[in-house]
Amino acid sequence: MALPDVLSQPLTLPLVAAPLFISSVPELVTAQCQAGVVGSFPALNARPASLLNDWLDRIAEENAVYASQHPEAIVAPFAVNQIVHRSNDRLDQDMAVIVEHRVPIVITSLGARPEINEAVHSYGGVVLHDVINDEFARKAVEKGADGIIAVAAGAGGHAGTQSPLALIREIREWFDGPLLLSGAIAHGSSILAALAAGADFAYVGSAFLSTVEANAAAEYKQMIVDSAAKDIVYSNLFTGVHGNYLRDSIVAAGLDPDALPESDHSAMSFGSGGTTKAKAWKDIWGSGQGIGAIKKSMTVAELVGQLTAQFDDASHALNTSIATRGLSRAY
Ligand SMILES: Cc1cc2nc3c(=O)[nH]c(=O)nc-3n(C[C@H](O)[C@H](O)[C@H](O)COP(=O)(O)O)c2cc1C
Repeated sequence: MALPDVLSQPLTLPLVAAPLFISSVPELVTAQCQAGVVGSFPALNARPASLLNDWLDRIAEENAVYASQHPEAIVAPFAVNQIVHRSNDRLDQDMAVIVEHRVPIVITSLGARPEINEAVHSYGGVVLHDVINDEFARKAVEKGADGIIAVAAGAGGHAGTQSPLALIREIREWFDGPLLLSGAIAHGSSILAALAAGADFAYVGSAFLSTVEANAAAEYKQMIVDSAAKDIVYSNLFTGVHGNYLRDSIVAAGLDPDALPESDHSAMSFGSGGTTKAKAWKDIWGSGQGIGAIKKSMTVAELVGQLTAQFDDASHALNTSIATRGLSRAY
């Protein structure tokens, strides 16, 4: 199946920047779009809710001004993330603003609802739904999602436990629509690997946490730079859903990362209330396992430049390896 128009326009890299609670703000999103990759933010980051309108105006306007001043530049579209959980008391209000602004791409997580998909389709928008297994992917498509974000093991924030290779293969078995792979992708060679495995795009979160434009404490950015896969702890304590967190931030909060109690789904709470979850995400810092590839804090443009150079090197090295090992086939 061909990709929808909004996803088939040229990009610097086949990369969608993932929405990051608290950290994804207009400054980060516009920098992502202007570097030629799809930018995104969770609607809930605009607090109070009335701010969402201003953010959407600002992002559209700044991208349009940049595009007119840099006619040669690739300016990518942006996406807004909706947490489709019953505790999100802003969902309907935010949906109305999204429809009014005709947001080109909507990313839904923690619940798939047909009426959300219909609202986005009413103006020609595209819905990408985030899942951690094949069963949820099938349900999302049945309910009208256009594309699937496969969140594999090692992803930052709420993460799955399945191998990316297994997950992508199971979904590609029956789904030929837009498919994104997420989890520990922070190097250009991993973006190439996502494509080779069958994805259309890589979906990258944690690598952007360390960028200059991210709304994160300097200590958080530094911890991303200093840490690697061994420093990531998988726990459901902080939000009621299993996710990956930086070990040192758990220690700094006075907890033992190796002896965290179990929580359950009743602890999930999203919305306007500024819940304990919001506090947890502020103090306990989320991150995926891929951050060993991030060696310093950079601007978004520098990070995308680095990922692009790595992608190009990896694809050259792969072609050379295939040719020199006699694996090339004539088509
Ligand atoms: C700090 C943090 C906050 C996140 N917040 C959200 C969120 O609000 N909504 C959402 O759908 N995903 C959220 N995610 C998950 C990302 O969108 C994405 O799935 C993940 O970052 C990809 O894995 P990676 O971090 O290894 O690249 C968050 C991830 C992190 C690390």
